[in-house]
Amino acid sequence: MDVSASTMRPLDVKTDMLCYVTSMESDSVPEPEFPASVAAIARRCMDDLAGRRGRIVTTATPLDNPPRLLFAGLGSESGIAADTLRDVAGAVSRRAQEMGVKRFAVVCPDMNNAADAASQITEGCVLALYDFDQFRSKKAESAPNLTVVCRPEAAESVHTAKIAAEGVLFARNLANLPANRCPPAKLAEFAEEISSEPGGDGKRGSIKCTILSGRQLSEGGFGGINAVGQGSANTPRLITLEYGGGQGPPVVLVGKAVTFDTGGISIKPGERMDEMKFDKCGGCTVLAVVRTTARLGLPVNLVGVVPSVENMPGGGSYRPGDIIKLYGGKTAEILNTDAEGRLILADALSYAEERFSPKCMIDLATLTGACIIALGCDVAGMISNDDNLASDITKSGGRTAEPVWRLPLDADYMDMIKSKVADIKNLVPGKAAGTVAAAAFLRSAVQETPWLHLDIAGTAWMQPPSKKRSYNLPGATGFGVRLLLDYLRNASKD
Ligand code: BES
Ligand code: MN
Ligand code: ZN
Repeated sequence: MDVSASTMRPLDVKTDMLCYVTSMESDSVPEPEFPASVAAIARRCMDDLAGRRGRIVTTATPLDNPPRLLFAGLGSESGIAADTLRDVAGAVSRRAQEMGVKRFAVVCPDMNNAADAASQITEGCVLALYDFDQFRSKKAESAPNLTVVCRPEAAESVHTAKIAAEGVLFARNLANLPANRCPPAKLAEFAEEISSEPGGDGKRGSIKCTILSGRQLSEGGFGGINAVGQGSANTPRLITLEYGGGQGPPVVLVGKAVTFDTGGISIKPGERMDEMKFDKCGGCTVLAVVRTTARLGLPVNLVGVVPSVENMPGGGSYRPGDIIKLYGGKTAEILNTDAEGRLILADALSYAEERFSPKCMIDLATLTGACIIALGCDVAGMISNDDNLASDITKSGGRTAEPVWRLPLDADYMDMIKSKVADIKNLVPGKAAGTVAAAAFLRSAVQETPWLHLDIAGTAWMQPPSKKRSYNLPGATGFGVRLLLDYLRNASKD
């Protein structure tokens, strides 16, 4: 799908369908320059639409250009939430595709921030035309090309938003792969491919990829990764991507990539177990963010660390009761082999802190079902030892409509993970504070570095009761990609 910005007058843009978004309050026909015949048609469409949110009206015109008009309702101006434009733009692009037009143009509404409007429209359109069709014989109809008609100061943001949205699609494409098509070794291959792609502007340098496996992991002391991975014929990998575009210590992103989570010996019930192919979503988001940061040439130093394992039951599996030694030397008592994410993440966090002395570490993980109980499927759980970092991430999530909500983690909670026979344990009996308990385990792997954890169990893929969004299709959402890119863009400013 081709995306471009145009700063021409809407009627001068060559397109098969010129599209307007209008609120309930907007009363005048959008183009004073419409010829009288078209103005009358537009008036009638606008009246039928009445700006109602979610409605779309299309019409033919007697003109050569544009041959069609589309009007989409935004609802009442007072109620236009930050995410409305993305959602409505997504619905517009889907309609354009259904109608079979080759190219459509969306006119940015006059808003306080023209750049925000343009990027939200771009994101909504690109994300909504996603279709995971690589294993289907019947492919999706090809996506129509998009022109975003905006003010000159917003043109650049159309380009940036397009690259960011493509980052989300990249994450979705990886995350939607089933476990037989994406074992840890395969995910590592994708990471290597990322590092051989040309970077953004070429000047900032590209990405270095390091893969640890086999004896490098077993002799390297990665006790968590090795324990979880030992039950599967698909052996673990520890993927590291390094992008150097700036000065000073890097931001480290850590992503859980369990390519399939059966629960292991503490096996999960069969119902909806197929969805545990999405247990690699945190890692896929991290790979996509590093790749996209390089494509954008952001002036930051960034490292992505992705521990990848398959959690299977078998003769070689780790067991409840086992005591393992995590990276860095702490011992952990395994009480449930289904609480595997915290084990591989603890290794990765300790390793990253030691190796990179980061400015901060942010991890993303489909870590606990308890997060869905607490927050549902539209808000990610956030836990951090650093108020400034938490506030920055909250703001980014607000801007990109990937909301996060902070949960507490003070010293009392840290007591939950104390073990009688080892330093810490991977399960707290009962159902209390499951998301915080998992985060406490991660916290114990971090020394002094500012750290922030996002539990994306509810938001990483569409599952009941996920809120309907035109731009979130069934399957993986790519949650976190736009949020982290927004954070990195702003972090590079100070
Ligand atoms: N990957 C799961 C968490 C999960 C479950 C995410 C459902 C999204 C939907 C994780 O590895 C897990 O199994 N967690 C257990 C932890 C428990 C054993 C302490 C859980 O949440 O039940
Ligand atoms: Mn599990
Ligand atoms: Zn898991």
